[in-house]
Amino acid sequence: MNLFNVYPLFNINPVKAQGSFLWDDKGEKYLDFYGGHAVISIGHNHPYYQNKLKDQLEKISFYSNSVQNELQTELAEKLGKLSGYEDYNLFLCNSGAEANENALKLASFHNGKSKVLYFSGSFHGRTSAAVSVTDNPKIVAPVNFSERFIKSEWNDVEQLEETFEKFGSEISSVIIEGIQGVGGIMIPTPEFLSKIKELCEKYDAVLILDEVQSGYGRSGYFFAHQESGVEADIITTAKGMGNGFPVGGVLIHPKFQASNGLLGTTFGGNHLACVASIAVLDVMKDENLIENAQKMGEYIEKEIKDLPHIKSIRRKGLMIGIELDRDCSEVRKSLLFDHHIFTGNSNDKTVLRILPALNIKKEETDLFLNALKVVLGNI
Ligand SMILES: Cc1ncc(COP(=O)(O)O)c(C=O)c1O
Repeated sequence: MNLFNVYPLFNINPVKAQGSFLWDDKGEKYLDFYGGHAVISIGHNHPYYQNKLKDQLEKISFYSNSVQNELQTELAEKLGKLSGYEDYNLFLCNSGAEANENALKLASFHNGKSKVLYFSGSFHGRTSAAVSVTDNPKIVAPVNFSERFIKSEWNDVEQLEETFEKFGSEISSVIIEGIQGVGGIMIPTPEFLSKIKELCEKYDAVLILDEVQSGYGRSGYFFAHQESGVEADIITTAKGMGNGFPVGGVLIHPKFQASNGLLGTTFGGNHLACVASIAVLDVMKDENLIENAQKMGEYIEKEIKDLPHIKSIRRKGLMIGIELDRDCSEVRKSLLFDHHIFTGNSNDKTVLRILPALNIKKEETDLFLNALKVVLGNI
């Protein structure tokens, strides 16, 4: 059997990883400044994370959601404390798309309405409703398309108001990323977020903050939207939550009523996923990684802001978009093949996406900065 060929692949085969480095099957070492799409939050193979998972493997890896699982409770308590959303409830699932799918469904159960407002440039995942609120016609199949999903322009308060005036009574929820990642590191203005919140309250719509990529300390806040002071009704997480272990979560305001069978999953919240997520939170707290994300992000911006070919830098914490005056693919290839550094791109071809681990060290950052200076100096 062959693999279903949907991923363009670099011809690199990583076989080992530690901290912010990877090694391929030929023994070549690579610096990871992308974390496999924002997944590696506390560094590869963090010893605390490894030990927690190994210990749990010796005990029990899985049983279904039909029995008690104290690890889920521990995870919910720790997540509530570190995120500041202490009185919210947690539903555990397996991925970002699944978290968004459940959020959209829960909103609709709650207010009985069926339209969803989303924004240009958005990416919310590839499952049914999640892909319907993703602004990329190439990945929305006819089976996913519906007029229930309404698009409004990013950061456009006027259009937002017009859309609510037209459809307000039918809008079940508004879904927005804390910072658009796939869209090219687009940061919502505080005014835009506040207006969405105000209109959601006025029209009884649910505000869903997709923090799948921008959450878990990446922005220098636990969740990126928290800088604006706006409180979300539902927050979705995944990626950095498990540092590579597949896990997703939905943080739910207490006004939403749970009932038996309303949501569910076979694998979500299993013992290993909980332990991985608890380990990430413990390390984030003990090693002050949110603060490190702020500090190292500022350092990177300061060091690159005057380099040639950079048009703008869009950044919060360690979620960084470097907009070049050209397509970034050659720069990215040179960083990877000449300097052995992984970086990312985005739907905006000019934007280099930088998502290092939250515990990146200054000397590792300097390796990236020196390489970027050379590459940009040569084009
Ligand atoms: C903001 C956002 N939401 C949702 C998703 C989907 O997550 P997953 O690939 O885990 O389904 C992604 C993935 O890139 C994302 O960036």
